[in-house]
Amino acid sequence: MDLRHLRYFVAVAEELNFTRAAERLHIAQPPLSRQIQQLEEGLGVQLFERNARPLKLTEAGRFFYAHAQQLLAQAAELESMTRRVGQIERKMSLGFVGSTLYGMLPKIIRRFRAEHPQIELSLVEMTTMDQIAALKQGTIDVGFGRIRHEDPNVRRVVLREERMIVALPVGHPLSLAKPVLALHDLLGETLIIFPKAPRPSYADQVLAAFHDRALQPGRIHEARELQIALGLVAAGEGISIVPSSVHGLKRDDISYRELDDPNLVSPIIMSMRRLDETEEISALLDMIYRLYEEEKLVFLPPSQD
Ligand code: BEZ
Repeated sequence: MDLRHLRYFVAVAEELNFTRAAERLHIAQPPLSRQIQQLEEGLGVQLFERNARPLKLTEAGRFFYAHAQQLLAQAAELESMTRRVGQIERKMSLGFVGSTLYGMLPKIIRRFRAEHPQIELSLVEMTTMDQIAALKQGTIDVGFGRIRHEDPNVRRVVLREERMIVALPVGHPLSLAKPVLALHDLLGETLIIFPKAPRPSYADQVLAAFHDRALQPGRIHEARELQIALGLVAAGEGISIVPSSVHGLKRDDISYRELDDPNLVSPIIMSMRRLDETEEISALLDMIYRLYEEEKLVFLPPSQD
């Protein structure tokens, strides 16, 4: 059995008609029928109920179809990933979620360009979930996100866990009450979360922080992205829980307050194709750890999976 057999079988299983499947595959019908027959003989099972009109998959055929689809998708990913890893020109494309721009990302990019001027670096804003798909399609080489997403083809390194802080409208009673707040001080407030979509996202990390402590946040307002959430906070629409690096974004209409619980954190996760051991990627990772040391930003022993 080879990949061609799988492609032919999937076409017939989807069209449930040999003539249409042959047209889709741009081959004649007799060789297609022979290949399917060979496949069934090799497996020793019938994949189609031959006498059924229209054509029907057998139970074994349905099982084989689900797995054949997965194998073909994996083969396509392997092709695009290998092409990307083997590219001759030295290029690297980074996907990042917007909130990492307030952390170390700009410094990392400047330093990397200075140390590796021969590598053409490009940056694309995208959600963590889109980063996983883009890594597998070979359109990016590294992703910086916040969601712990499992994928067998993707390696994750948790670079650090960033504390969450509260953004309040300037002059808000809570900002005047005490310098450090507890989550449960925020229950009477409208909580502005972001991004609204796609989910899961940073918004779910904030909601989980409440739910894990058996707390029910007050009214929820979903904002499209961080900048909108901050604008709404400044307008007095509510409060928002943001990664602490956002503090660097000085605004005179917003006050930031720390939260008392050290477990209220959001990770910064670097994702790359598993087994992609190109020099550029190890150089980038080394440089990030060097920068953390320089900035005394070592929060975590490196953890990988
Ligand atoms: C950081 O803030 O630690 C960071 C942000 C983006 C990429 C890598 C690290």
